Amino acid sequence: MPQKLSKSSHLTPARAPITSRSMAIREIISLPDKRLRLISKPVEKITAEIRALADDMFETMYDAPGIGLAAIQVAEPIRLITMDLAKKEGETEPRVFINPEILSSSEELNTYEEGCLSIPEYYEEVERPAKVRFRFMDIDGKVHEEDAEGLFATCIQHEIDHLNGVLFVDYLSKLKREMVMKKFKKAAKLAAK
Ligand code: NI
Repeated sequence: MPQKLSKSSHLTPARAPITSRSMAIREIISLPDKRLRLISKPVEKITAEIRALADDMFETMYDAPGIGLAAIQVAEPIRLITMDLAKKEGETEPRVFINPEILSSSEELNTYEEGCLSIPEYYEEVERPAKVRFRFMDIDGKVHEEDAEGLFATCIQHEIDHLNGVLFVDYLSKLKREMVMKKFKKAAKLAAK
């Protein structure tokens, strides 16, 4: 049946299916790496590469371990965030936020002690809106609007900041921020020797 054969050969995928690819832990860039100040680009289409990036980011985030990661932290200036705020140990709630956008913020503020995988072992209290409404696209390309409060609100704001080249230390006093920057610059110099 030559006709059928030619038809099926036409359907042969040009490359191996994505399921054959295994996840990988990527290097997390940290201060004073200037790429952390880049403005990330929106995702236009959910491609196999975008899915692979999200998979790698989860593996990298869980390994760190951390609760949120922006793509720029693995040196990809793309508007993609992974997060897992599961409260119970042993449980996971992996979430991907693509092209996230804050729609509104509460006047009420909340203070959390924040940390960042790109500013290792440094924690400081940061005040942010207690509640936000935001829009995002999921990994299947569906657009959602969602309300966030508590740790979720802080985390989504912290991660969206990364997409705009903003770090949580930017909210601290000039003195504190300069001390942190100095510390990381010095550590990088020592490591390079
Ligand atoms: Ni961070």
